[in-house]
Amino acid sequence: LTAHVSLDPSFRIAPVGRRLFGSFVEHMGRCVYGGIYEPGHAESDADGNRLDVLRLVRELGVGVVRYPGGNFVSGYRWEDGVGPVQDRPRRLDLAWRSIETNDFGLNEFVAWTRLAQLEPMLAVNLGTRGIQEACDLLEYANHPGGTHLSDLRRAHGAPEPHGVRLWCLGNEMDGPWQIGHTTAEDYGRLAAETAKAMRQVDPDIELVACGSSNASMPTFGAWEATVLDHAFEHVDYLSLHAYYEQHGDDRASFLAASAGMDRFIDGVVATADHVAAKKRSRKKLMLSFDEWNLWQESRFAGHTNLEWERAPRLIEDTYTVQDAVVFGSLLMSLLRHSDRVAIACLAQLVNVIGPIRAEPDRPAWAQTIFYPFALTARHARGDVLRVQTATGLYDTTEHGEVPLVDVVATHDAETGDVTVFAMNRHVSEPALLDIDLRAFGDLVVAEHLYLGGDELDAANSIETPERIAPSRGGGHDTDGRRLRASLPPVSWNMLRLV
Ligand code: AHR
Repeated sequence: LTAHVSLDPSFRIAPVGRRLFGSFVEHMGRCVYGGIYEPGHAESDADGNRLDVLRLVRELGVGVVRYPGGNFVSGYRWEDGVGPVQDRPRRLDLAWRSIETNDFGLNEFVAWTRLAQLEPMLAVNLGTRGIQEACDLLEYANHPGGTHLSDLRRAHGAPEPHGVRLWCLGNEMDGPWQIGHTTAEDYGRLAAETAKAMRQVDPDIELVACGSSNASMPTFGAWEATVLDHAFEHVDYLSLHAYYEQHGDDRASFLAASAGMDRFIDGVVATADHVAAKKRSRKKLMLSFDEWNLWQESRFAGHTNLEWERAPRLIEDTYTVQDAVVFGSLLMSLLRHSDRVAIACLAQLVNVIGPIRAEPDRPAWAQTIFYPFALTARHARGDVLRVQTATGLYDTTEHGEVPLVDVVATHDAETGDVTVFAMNRHVSEPALLDIDLRAFGDLVVAEHLYLGGDELDAANSIETPERIAPSRGGGHDTDGRRLRASLPPVSWNMLRLV
């Protein structure tokens, strides 16, 4: 099996943006409580922030974090989470049938983002609340002072405006599970009117309208078109959400999940551009893939049978080596679409389908999927290049014919460095990656790291938190004009050429 690849520095798709390496912190399970925040833990600071988690968040290279939900936001009163902690109410969280103590709220989150050195992205509740509450929250967060709500923020110990630029207009409003689930027509109008009012409060914000909850929703496509008919001029981004898992024994389709992600993105781009054409608009609406990950969702029985508990263990999935391979290929799909996908958030950050796991009595540790994210965030630099790959195909039930080898590359014009990301989907054969490098100066392989090859079912765990980490690839050579590298069967690879 061979993959012949042509690369040229002038075939640029778009610059790699830090917002492509976002994540998501929801008030769900142990993502906040027992995740990023755990007062009294041996590793926590005086404010309750877990510093071991923070170290891993920095190492992961996260650029932006969406908060506070998710389904949670559609029943949330933001006022509950500000002001003196002892006065904050305990509430029922209907989304996850949990007890919300509100010990952690907006100001704690913004302070945490500063410690983590990343950008906050907030969602407003358009499920049980509306335009007024969205504007109130924005005034509290971003208005400098001299008004009731901005002065309240100052009185709550945050004299400077938070300056949050990214705002989501609700969450998954097309989903019947969503509190306040509505029609595309009604949501589109509400999103447009909320956007207009919020921009009156702060014209510098960037707004995300809800697209479909996933590409399998019966209203997918029609939802996007109707919402944008109303909101196109008023928003900057349309959201996409997708979670992938292996269905039954259909491993061939699972290994090709990124082909599904490619098609999903292409479909939303086509719909947005269709609305633009109807409106005679030159605006290229950008996308915010603000929830993506692997999730064994079919094993999650939903929340209706849960006991009312504070921070229960919810969907703490364990990720295997094979999961890390597929996960890495999803990042490749996002990179390849960076001309239209400006924001992407790995859902979620800690414990809840998280790359980072935290326990009350141990230091935090990294799951297998941590590594492809951290390596891509660190080494995808400069511009994403349009890659021409000639290789074999194989057939899948879910995605039709898919290439056996998938390749994405970035080029940093300042340093001349090239980073190649490559996945071999073949289940038993290594692939020979053969890249024509004549368009570049002399390059040598500085590093070839991969996940996969064998032990595909292995995972890290609390007992063996360092069992799985990227391995060093051995079989590669360059003569400056050509790179040849061997990609193990079922593997995700990163090759750095300098
Ligand atoms: O990330 C878990 C949940 O998945 C989010 O709350 C929701 O938006 C999505 O359905």
